[in-house]
Formats: sequence, C-alpha cells, structure tokens
Amino acid sequence: MSAASALELRDVRAAYGTINVLRGVDLAVPYGSLVALLGPNGGGKSTALRVIAGQLPTTGGDVFVAGRRVNGAAPDELARRGVCLIPEGKGIFPNLTVRENLWMATHSGTSLMEIEEIAYARFPQLGQRRRQLAGRLSGGEQQMLAMARALATNPSLLLLDELSMGLAPIVVEQLYEIVAQVANEGVSILVVEQFARAVLGIVDWVGIMLRGRISNFGAPAAMEAELSTAYLGE
Ligand SMILES: Nc1ncnc2c1ncn2[C@@H]1O[C@H](COP(=O)(O)OP(=O)(O)OP(=O)(O)O)[C@@H](O)[C@H]1O
Ligand SMILES: [Mg+2]
Repeated sequence: MSAASALELRDVRAAYGTINVLRGVDLAVPYGSLVALLGPNGGGKSTALRVIAGQLPTTGGDVFVAGRRVNGAAPDELARRGVCLIPEGKGIFPNLTVRENLWMATHSGTSLMEIEEIAYARFPQLGQRRRQLAGRLSGGEQQMLAMARALATNPSLLLLDELSMGLAPIVVEQLYEIVAQVANEGVSILVVEQFARAVLGIVDWVGIMLRGRISNFGAPAAMEAELSTAYLGE
C-alpha cells in the first residue's frame, strides 16, 4: 500500500518530553492528491507535520515517503527526498526583500533568475514587489512568497500549516485555488487547517484529527457533518 502513496503514516506516535501528543496516527496522501488534515486546536496537526518533515522524532509507528520508510531521517535528508514544510507563520524572513527570500531557495540548485521567473509568473504581485521587504508585504503576499520559495525547490510532497491564518476569506480562497492548481500539476499536498470551509471544496480527502488520532477519514462531502461533531464535542 505504501508504494501507492506519496506519504503514509502507520500508527505514528510522538511526544514532547513525557507528554504524548500523537497517539497512533494512520494517514495516507495518494500521489498527486490534495489531502486536508482538519480539527480543533491542540489535536496534534502541526506536530504531525513536524514529524513528517523530520523535525520531531517518532516514538512509535512508521512514516513512509514514496514507499520508503523514513523514520529518524533528518530534515535536510527529507528535503532532498522532496518533502517541503511551510510552517505556521510562513517561515519567511521579514527583514529580507522578496528577491532575497527567493534567493534562499537557490541551495536546491536552481538559479535565482529561474526561480524568480517561475515565482513571478505564478504570483505576478510578487514580481511588482521584488525589492520590497517581505515584512511589508500583505499577509496574503507573504503566504505567496512562502509558497513561491517552497515550489522553487521542486517538492514532491508539500506540507502547508494553517495557510489561512490571519487572512481574509477571499484571500484564503485565492491561495487555495493556487494550491489546487499545484496539486493538479502533480505535487502531492497535505494541508492543515482548523476551520474547514475554505478547503472542503478543493481537497480530495479529509482526515479529522482529534486528540492525537485520526478520528475520521473520507471524501470532503462525507466529512462535513463529522467536522461539526468534532468541534462541538470539544
Ligand atoms: N514544543 C512543544 N512543547 C510541548 N508541548 C507542545 C509543543 N508544541 C505543541 N505542544 C502540545 O502538543 C499538543 C498538540 O499541539 P499541535 O501544535 O500539534 O496542535 P494543532 O492541532 O496544530 O493545534 P492548532 O490548531 O492550535 O495549531 C498541544 O497540547 C500542545 O500544547
Ligand atoms: Mg497547529
């Protein structure tokens, strides 16, 4: 089964010190699909992404990327395997310009010129602001910059943590249209969100995470009612 998925978690467990946070997570992202991991705060969504990106070790279970078991792999090794995490808060450098932020992605071997060309074609707004400090961009533009930098490394598995945070619904909708487009181009994507509305219309699968476990997994239409229950139950 793992060979059929860009990402698979089997009974994955993780802890901060003695506090168990992931308590047996099973989840799969089929190749080229867009999967959402949803659920109320504190459920362990960001922790799951940290584990997948190699930033936090597992205490049990297995993580497979493209069918290969990667437990214990370092973040840079996972990055070389195409795993790319855009963390909560976007991970861009506010005191550097748009160009300088994009330059950070040249370590993957692509030239700045090429990275800029691709980034500004996808996000024309960034092209007009290439000399502006990233911290002075709007929230939506900052998220575009984070995505442009991530895409410049040619990820095969993109992990997005709370892209919608602090953004107006219309901006969130626009950003998710781009995310869906990237998935259509063949990138496998796992997005994490607390509030579901923005993503239910575009994702292929939804997993609901409650207290360190996937309580439900299915097609978005089937998960709408389950989601309300998950939030009311908290
Ligand atoms: N660095 C840390 N040290 C100790 N505990 C942590 C740490 N980070 C998260 N936790 C705890 O782990 C649990 C899961 O946190 P996590 O950030 O994964 O949840 P989440 O589902 O992403 O929540 P949110 O929707 O609010 O972002 C929480 O109880 C949190 O307090
Ligand atoms: Mg989180």
